[in-house]
Amino acid sequence: MANAYSQQEEELYKKWREAYDDPTLLLIDPVNGIKQIKSGLPIAHPPAIKVSPVSLVSLVSPQLEIEKGTVTADNRLFDGSAFKQLIKIRGNILGPDLSKINPFASISQSIFGSIDGVKLANIEAIFNQIKKEGGYFFPRSAEPAVYCDLGGAPGGFIRYLQWRYPSSFGYGVSLSPMKGGLAWNEKAFDLKRLEITSCPDGSGDIVNNLEWIVKWILQIATFSGEISVCQLAAGRMVNLVLGHKISDDEAKNMPTLVAQIAIGLSILWPGGNMIIEMAGSKSKMSADLILLMGLTFDQVYLFKPISSNPAENGIYLIASGYQQNNNLAPTISGLLKKVNQLQRDGLPVKSLILDDNYYIRPEIKEIVRKNNQSIQRQLLLSQQIQSPALKPHYLTYYTGIYWNIPS
Ligand SMILES: C[S@@+](CC[C@H](N)C(=O)[O-])C[C@H]1O[C@@H](n2cnc3c(N)ncnc32)[C@H](O)[C@@H]1O
Repeated sequence: MANAYSQQEEELYKKWREAYDDPTLLLIDPVNGIKQIKSGLPIAHPPAIKVSPVSLVSLVSPQLEIEKGTVTADNRLFDGSAFKQLIKIRGNILGPDLSKINPFASISQSIFGSIDGVKLANIEAIFNQIKKEGGYFFPRSAEPAVYCDLGGAPGGFIRYLQWRYPSSFGYGVSLSPMKGGLAWNEKAFDLKRLEITSCPDGSGDIVNNLEWIVKWILQIATFSGEISVCQLAAGRMVNLVLGHKISDDEAKNMPTLVAQIAIGLSILWPGGNMIIEMAGSKSKMSADLILLMGLTFDQVYLFKPISSNPAENGIYLIASGYQQNNNLAPTISGLLKKVNQLQRDGLPVKSLILDDNYYIRPEIKEIVRKNNQSIQRQLLLSQQIQSPALKPHYLTYYTGIYWNIPS
């Protein structure tokens, strides 16, 4: 049978797939997706999922030292000339309506009220961190997930988790609107399965209340009746920590990123997971944090879900399988608490790891690959903006099944 797609279309899908490592993309593009669909009902979890981990435990005894200084892009971590080209055309990228370019923007205002719920569904479909069931027949799961969302307002992540895991229990902290933060969309939550705090100082600021938030989760916050068995078994801890970037600028985002990781390392139970959006990984400080996560989790990934804004640097740090008994975990969380204190005193930190072989490490090479992929994706997007005919037409209808969300 003749191929229904032109050479140019096939090339376009190939390019778009290269711009993301998201394997669900392969199954919803008309060129490859249709082949898959013809061979039976679309399945929930695509086979042969392969996203390369950024950091395996190869940095056995890291030499750690806090180096104070401004967080800036490190030109050994990305292709400077491609980045210059991107900066030159950047004005073209940020202007237009993204829904015209990203085929996934159309499903963003689904039942979760924001694109974030969809992004989490997209991530979860690939990394399979909590769920058991999934797909067309069992999109919801009885798994008793316990999660903590740091900087979670208005609450797209929480709305997704409450829908997908009816037996889940969550904790949320977010900067109060009085301090310039976004308000929680409380009307949309089932508050019997969620406890929200604004901390004793009323700010909800995770940077200024790091130690208190850890204590709140471990000792103060209430249990939900349904979840208590699971929580007690795990010693009042959570199995998923979530965080979102608060700025596109790595330096501005750093204090909240450090707080999110430090809190996560203190409240996760063994085997737990973290899903935290970073503003990027072009600075040494960001790369150091990724490597340190690799020392305390089974696997660490940098992943850009296809539903995430293609024009933004934002990338998710996905860490699976927390090794709480690993003796480096307290050292690393202690180090990050010191960094948090310095940042609160107005002293930024630009590096944590001393290593003569730093830039030839395989993990660093993977971070460089991801950074360059991000630059290339943004360059591709700028071509598409200039020529809308280049927009790929994905079978977005099927994403509902792959990502376990109502269509
Ligand atoms: C992009 S929004 C997160 C959206 C969320 N992931 C969702 O699913 O709806 C970032 C949030 O972080 C909050 N935030 C900013 N700085 C913060 C801080 N220092 N402490 C706590 N929350 C903060 C903002 O007010 C905002 O609600």
